[in-house]
Amino acid sequence: MNIILLGPPGAGKGTQAARLVEQHGMRQLSTGDMLRAAVAAQTPVGLKAKAIMDAGELVSDEIVSALIDDELTAMGEHVGAIFDGYPRTAAQAEQLDAILAKHGRKLDHVIELAVDEDELVRRIVGRYSCAACGTGYHDEFRQPAVAGVCDKCGGTEFKRRKDDNEETVRTRMTEYRAKTAPILPLYEARGIVRRIDGMAPIDAVTASVEAVLAED
Ligand code: AP5
Ligand code: MG
Repeated sequence: MNIILLGPPGAGKGTQAARLVEQHGMRQLSTGDMLRAAVAAQTPVGLKAKAIMDAGELVSDEIVSALIDDELTAMGEHVGAIFDGYPRTAAQAEQLDAILAKHGRKLDHVIELAVDEDELVRRIVGRYSCAACGTGYHDEFRQPAVAGVCDKCGGTEFKRRKDDNEETVRTRMTEYRAKTAPILPLYEARGIVRRIDGMAPIDAVTASVEAVLAED
């Protein structure tokens, strides 16, 4: 099974992908996470991407498609892929078709998480994660059970993304509306888009995602 989670910044792509990884043993392919790892490791890709990401703009299609191709090459052919934050432009959608064909995979579903933009700013600005294991938290919606201690690994250090401030979030949303939303009709024409309500509570969104996966 190969699926795309499509939605604006803060829609819940990463949150839902993490659950699919746990429930179904699928693999999350988040170009945002890959790029942040490259920035942290100061690789050539990271050095190119850093300023672009800090501004909330899009990194080049060639860079992100190469990252996806490399990940698919490295993972087992029977492991399902969850594309999170990719593709984000018409060119990336075309490149993904070619990459999937090369790896003998087919796209099963494009799950669109529909959300309200003002709520997204609230979600993103309150978001943080465990510095050790990456588990996600939120100032309002999801605090650790014991304040200051990660539920999953017991870590006590937390971090926030540099692009999670209101101004950058607005740019990221403009980029989404201008470049990413227009790829939906390409997939709608193939009859594989499933639109779900991303404003519902996290568990309810997961139930809707599961219902789509159960269609097969
Ligand atoms: P990326 O890392 O992909 O960021 P994004 O698309 O802006 O999305 P986010 O990760 O911010 O949101 P999400 O949908 O994963 O939401 P989450 O689950 O965390 O990209 C970052 C940058 O990298 C880009 O700006 C660009 O520069 C570059 N880049 C990446 N991919 C690229 C590509 N393909 N091409 C070019 N450039 C690329 O949820 C958010 C918060 O809300 C969390 O705190 C969560 O707990 C909470 N939450 C989630 N769901 C719910 C719910 N249902 N109810 C209440 N709270 C919820
Ligand atoms: Mg994410």
